[in-house]
Amino acid sequence: MLEVRNLHAGYGDAEVLFGIDLDVKPGEVVAIVGSNGAGKTTLLRAISGAIRPTQGSIRLNGTELAGRPTHQQVESGLIMVPEGRRLFPRLTVQRNLEIGAYSARARPNLAQNLEQVYELFPILKERSQQLAGTLSGGQQQMCAIARGLISTPQVLMLDEVSLGLAPVMISRVYDAIRAIRDRGVTLVLVEQNVNQVLSVADRAYVIQHGRVALSGSGRELQGNEDVRRVYLGLSSAEEKRQ
Ligand SMILES: Nc1ncnc2c1ncn2[C@@H]1O[C@H](COP(=O)(O)OP(=O)(O)OP(=O)(O)O)[C@@H](O)[C@H]1O
Ligand SMILES: [Mg+2]
Repeated sequence: MLEVRNLHAGYGDAEVLFGIDLDVKPGEVVAIVGSNGAGKTTLLRAISGAIRPTQGSIRLNGTELAGRPTHQQVESGLIMVPEGRRLFPRLTVQRNLEIGAYSARARPNLAQNLEQVYELFPILKERSQQLAGTLSGGQQQMCAIARGLISTPQVLMLDEVSLGLAPVMISRVYDAIRAIRDRGVTLVLVEQNVNQVLSVADRAYVIQHGRVALSGSGRELQGNEDVRRVYLGLSSAEEKRQ
């Protein structure tokens, strides 16, 4: 479905990605993990059009999309939910969700998609008229994911959904991610929280210094101590704390 080949990207003269290859099949959950500064966010930005790749190819269902701006990627169904949620704090939850449907692709589905995300996140329905800035951190994260879903994604890419959330909220967000997957949405999850993400991922890529250091099934990587220590920078003690 999504096919990334030899992708190079960076900021100004500083190259960050050095030839990434990535495949996402329909209905799959793919995790992208790696230590701080490895280039995970940059990879999602390059795919979603927020930054322009300097080289390489991004195909969605066979159509070349590399180098197109974000609004065109959104029309094609490549949707990124950025780290830090980026909601409009002074608008209501419902307005924030409606803004997710600004594209021509999503607009006709708004009523139906709104109903679906309210089914998926009943708390957002309860709080639909509340200002988004007054939601808890976990609720804001759910609102951001819901806004991504309203955009009618072909591939929904989530950057660090569990960052800064309490463990109980992380579990809830991941329950929602499983429910989204069960509805057949294709997902790319960038995460620091390796344990959570590898438990839900069909496949995972470990990014190191802007390259794919290794890839495999979520379970394979989860069980591999060396992988965790060497590539993810997790000591056993740190892991126990996670
Ligand atoms: N806007 C920017 N301008 C210049 N350099 C940047 C910018 N954003 C990121 N970088 C650099 O690109 C590299 C990769 O950053 P990126 O944010 O992609 O890493 P990451 O894997 O998402 O890390 P983290 O786990 O901390 O979120 C880093 O060296 C970072 O300093
Ligand atoms: Mg990042």
